[in-house]
Amino acid sequence: MLQLGALGGLSIAVLSACSPLAAPAPTAKPWVAPNAPMPFPKGFTWGSATSAYQVEGSTRADGRGASIWDTFATQPGTIADHSTGDPAADHYRLWKQDLDLMKELGLTSYRFSIAWPRIVPLGTGAVNQKGLDFYRALIDGLLERGIKPAITLYHWDLPQPLQDAGGWANRDTAAAFAEYADILFRALGDVDADWFTINEPKTTAYVGYAYGAHAPGLRNGTAAGAAVHHQLLAHGLAVRKFRASGAKGRIGIALNLMPVYAINAAAKQAARYADGAENRLFLDPVLLGRYPTDAVGGLPGQIGLGSTAFESNIQPGDLEVISTRCDYLAVQYYGVAGMDATGTQVEIHPISRATWQQIYPQGLYDLLTRIKRDYPRIPLIITENGMPDPTADHTVDDPYRVTFLREHFQQASRAIAAGVPLEGYYVWSLLDNFEWAEGYTQRFGIVAVDFETQKRTPKKSSALLTAVIRANSVSRA
Ligand code: FCB
Repeated sequence: MLQLGALGGLSIAVLSACSPLAAPAPTAKPWVAPNAPMPFPKGFTWGSATSAYQVEGSTRADGRGASIWDTFATQPGTIADHSTGDPAADHYRLWKQDLDLMKELGLTSYRFSIAWPRIVPLGTGAVNQKGLDFYRALIDGLLERGIKPAITLYHWDLPQPLQDAGGWANRDTAAAFAEYADILFRALGDVDADWFTINEPKTTAYVGYAYGAHAPGLRNGTAAGAAVHHQLLAHGLAVRKFRASGAKGRIGIALNLMPVYAINAAAKQAARYADGAENRLFLDPVLLGRYPTDAVGGLPGQIGLGSTAFESNIQPGDLEVISTRCDYLAVQYYGVAGMDATGTQVEIHPISRATWQQIYPQGLYDLLTRIKRDYPRIPLIITENGMPDPTADHTVDDPYRVTFLREHFQQASRAIAAGVPLEGYYVWSLLDNFEWAEGYTQRFGIVAVDFETQKRTPKKSSALLTAVIRANSVSRA
């Protein structure tokens, strides 16, 4: 989680790949796992996730157009190790062996994303059949191995020509996304898949448009506000296309959510506002059909998108579109934040190599039970959860990740026992990969990748996942 004070007139308290909860104080009594294994429901989905730009490589193959990450990564000073997503884990060429690996690990589902620039290289207009063929082959390969496809339509690799026209700050991008999504529903909708519209609209808006650490690298609060709204609009339009296309399967949006805990009584209001900026600004429009009134602004904890400018993006009917019924909510959970009275994030739990990540497994329980309380009835799927190795080195012995995953699985089972309708869990990530602005310096894989040879070696954490999948339960240790 990046903490920013005033940035070009913006007061952005909270930024990151993840995300407050005005809830249990950090002093809450630690939960202790029972001795007996903790079960998951029959048919629970167990998978691992990747995204196109982070693993595929081959960024110029078979008619793929340029994406904003191709552009951003080649600008000086953007990526920690000066790398790009090419070759990444070379998954575009090695996908068959990766599917075999997934089968060996016992995954019941694989979450991957489709690269928009492979399908519609210029963002709008001509369709690239070779791009469709690649994903068709990948999906068929999954089905042959008995693995269910879980398909993200947009995981940050916007076609560059759309960025040249303003990207997500431009309302037209929402319409272009709906057209792109429709192409995929018509081409691949015969498959029983779980679909996800947009991956983490918050990260794109805050980190990409306000803070500038991700593509497209803008530092513009007004554009960030527009990017929030237009991504959510794009999501709703795509869900409508999905229903109209008659595609099989189910659809929802993938939101990165984060409990925010007030560190003392004086911080309660700021934590509430930060919860708005981190969570409710995305949950409420999608699930309740309205924006919260306390998330955007200049008060401690709020996100400084300029509230008037933000509201000027909203046209009549937009919230009806955005709240078009979804089949589930995809939750991405990495950790929590403490919040002080000034609206500054405070470290209340250990951080990982990803300094935005405060590790607190119980936060997952808090988050899931809170969603059930405030947004009842919507089924939930955890589509990302994981942590990086402590160094950039190739590592296969990862006891910290074994503990991390075990403790988070326990909290998920605990939440299910408390009545949370959680249906699946995807670990981030299957493979070490291109971790955005961190390049190859943060390895989130349960399978190690030697980036010189592209050799894959399962880490110890993958054996834990396999054992949990087999037993469909997680034991105490
Ligand atoms: C999430 C992103 C994913 C990966 C993890 C570590 O925010 O969706 O691509 O970078 O963080």
